[in-house]
Amino acid sequence: MIINKKRDSPSPKTLEVIGIAAVTVNGYIARNSREKILWSKDLPLFKKQTENCPVIMGSNTRKTLSDGLPGREMIIVNRTDDPADILRRIDQKRCFVIGGGKTYSKFSSYLTHLYLTIHPRVFKRGVRLFTNLEKEISISFVRLVPVVAEEGIFQFQFKVE
Ligand SMILES: NC(=O)c1ccc[n+]([C@@H]2O[C@H](COP(=O)([O-])OP(=O)(O)OC[C@H]3O[C@@H](n4cnc5c(N)ncnc54)[C@H](OP(=O)(O)O)[C@@H]3O)[C@@H](O)[C@H]2O)c1
Repeated sequence: MIINKKRDSPSPKTLEVIGIAAVTVNGYIARNSREKILWSKDLPLFKKQTENCPVIMGSNTRKTLSDGLPGREMIIVNRTDDPADILRRIDQKRCFVIGGGKTYSKFSSYLTHLYLTIHPRVFKRGVRLFTNLEKEISISFVRLVPVVAEEGIFQFQFKVE
């Protein structure tokens, strides 16, 4: 369990806020804002890790998920939503920020962990993991989880300092 000590913490309660994404080796999460992500190989792991947890996503990402995400409370954020307010209302130990790039950026100062599955792909252009990051995030490596080891696909888990 992580104690959230940041100055801009949503509340003194303990809450893990985990950013989770499939990324290309050059740091993209999609070719464009409407792309449905069919190239990611970590869906089974994503389902297992996010099961029974609230998942926070932006409106563009919601539009790409035709069937929603059964078994998880979906919190769709719009541009006027305050991330601290959203997190304050969560009464669980853990939640996931599942994208897209604008939403990872919006919640960047509240993240306690980052789970990134690097895929052996290089896009020419697209949506970056963080589209408009205001300041650098300091992270440290925690563990590596095999996704499709024979294809070199692993999830890198980091703790945000
Ligand atoms: N590879 C992965 O793991 C992964 C994960 C998730 C998503 N994705 C992909 O990421 C893409 C979507 O990412 P995205 O960054 O475009 O969208 P997004 O973060 O899903 O949603 C856009 C968010 O930004 C807000 N916004 C839009 N225009 C804004 C503005 N001018 N100023 C402030 N906020 C604004 C939207 O609010 P309004 O609702 O008010 O417009 C919404 O909250 C999709 O292709 C999706 O498939 C990939």
